[in-house]
Amino acid sequence: MSAPTRQELLEAYAIADRGVPTVRMNFVMSLDGAVTIEGRSGGLGDEHDRLAMQVLRTLADVVLVGAGTVRVEGYGGLQVDEADAAWRRAHGLASQPRVAVVSSRLDLGPEHPFFARAVDRPIVVTHAAAPSDRRAALAEVADVLVCGDEAVDLEAMLAALAAAGLPQVLCEGGPHLFGALIEADLVGELCLSLSPTLVAGDAGRIARGAPEVARSMRLVHAIPAGDLLLLRYARSR
Ligand SMILES: NC(=O)c1ccc[n+]([C@@H]2O[C@H](COP(=O)([O-])OP(=O)(O)OC[C@H]3O[C@@H](n4cnc5c(N)ncnc54)[C@H](OP(=O)(O)O)[C@@H]3O)[C@@H](O)[C@H]2O)c1
Repeated sequence: MSAPTRQELLEAYAIADRGVPTVRMNFVMSLDGAVTIEGRSGGLGDEHDRLAMQVLRTLADVVLVGAGTVRVEGYGGLQVDEADAAWRRAHGLASQPRVAVVSSRLDLGPEHPFFARAVDRPIVVTHAAAPSDRRAALAEVADVLVCGDEAVDLEAMLAALAAAGLPQVLCEGGPHLFGALIEADLVGELCLSLSPTLVAGDAGRIARGAPEVARSMRLVHAIPAGDLLLLRYARSR
């Protein structure tokens, strides 16, 4: 089976208007709906999924993740490669997307690789009731955005990111952050890699922890990449 090139994916995932703040989700999922194998997403992806992920990162202003995903997947030193960095510069973007983590408890210390290995100053999104000592410690190594009083106000977060010059948000999960974004109706796109794998087991879904809603999405593309399928859906308003 054929697979799209990097250039074809850059065109397929192009952002129509970079000035309009958008949250684009990216997940990989097994055919039977599992979000992980042995607790991590890596076993579901292949080289086609990884290429799509690199392209999506190349197009983003900021890569946003929940603290649970950082705790499991690490996220230290996230960066696009030199060819993608050159593409970004040629299109008026910073060489690298910023990285941001959402957390209430702030139990990621400044020594965590997310901060210690970051290529640019990371962003922490939290709320005013988060532990102040941890907030102060993280402010040494990151830009801390306080959005909301008792809980993270996700709409305020997106406004703060846009005000910081980061309107194009690529959210790489995890499921609880996705659930909260769906609940607040802030998801503009879902880019889903359908992995040619059956997993069974008890792995969760790509969204959880939020009340049931029904948000309509429309198909933008379905691109076969080997046996994997790259799906791009946009919110229909
Ligand atoms: N297949 C895939 O593409 C994919 C992608 C991402 C993750 N995953 C998998 O998903 C699993 C992690 O799941 P998860 O649901 O725990 O991930 P998650 O959503 O990244 O993390 C949940 C944590 O993030 C913070 N958070 C999320 N939403 C928040 C909100 N609205 N307000 C404040 N804080 C918020 C909280 O952190 P604090 O506890 O610090 O307050 C919360 O405990 C891992 O096994 C990972 O491998 C899979």
